[in-house]
Amino acid sequence: MSSHERIEKSVPLLIVLTIVAISFGTLVELVPLIFSKKYAEPIAGLEPYSALELEGRDIYIREGCNTCHSQMIRPLRAETERYGHYSVAGESVYDHPFLFGSKRTGPDLARVGKRYSDDWHRAHLYNPRDVVPESNMPAFPWLFSNEVNAEGTAAKMSTLQTLGVPYTEADIAGAASAVAGKKEIDALVAYLQQLGTLIQTRR
Ligand code: HEC
Repeated sequence: MSSHERIEKSVPLLIVLTIVAISFGTLVELVPLIFSKKYAEPIAGLEPYSALELEGRDIYIREGCNTCHSQMIRPLRAETERYGHYSVAGESVYDHPFLFGSKRTGPDLARVGKRYSDDWHRAHLYNPRDVVPESNMPAFPWLFSNEVNAEGTAAKMSTLQTLGVPYTEADIAGAASAVAGKKEIDALVAYLQQLGTLIQTRR
């Protein structure tokens, strides 16, 4: 029996060797990406989120906006025509956790920044039906009365600093006062209005 025949006729051996082959292929593709800085370079002009935007991002996660909205424009014509330039890796290097998502009950929001006015967003989040009659997005009226909890902002920023987000000590020292007294809606709209604005080619 040739060695090839032996492999093909032994199911356990075939399974083990298949796993070895797939694992090797996966490692060869993944490991260089993990260790190469080239793929995690921030694009020119990328800044960490301001204290207010960061709180807005946490409200976005708390309210589950990312369960209905992706933030990842694929390099396909149907997507770029609708949403603008496709997403690039260097835009989200400061995102922990990333919010790419794949479920699109609503439109992708990767480049929604500056597409609407602040007032539009406020009206829409207060009651989506007031501006988009056929919308099935939920209303978020409590964002208008809740104040941002400023207690944790500085700690969040220094945690992100340990993950490589370049916050300065001054950013962290000023964090609590930057968000104190703001309503949650202010933080959320600040976050939405910067999304994807560094690369903007939408007509
Ligand atoms: C149950 C699913 C669902 C959830 C949860 C949800 N949305 Fe939506 N969203 C939609 C749908 C559907 C639309 C399209 C209709 C409309 O504009 O209201 C939409 C539209 C939008 C738009 C307009 C996008 C565009 O390009 O016109 C924005 C901005 C938005 N949502 C933000 C949010 C934010 C912020 C949250 C969390 C506070 C959120 N959404 C939660 C379903 C959802």
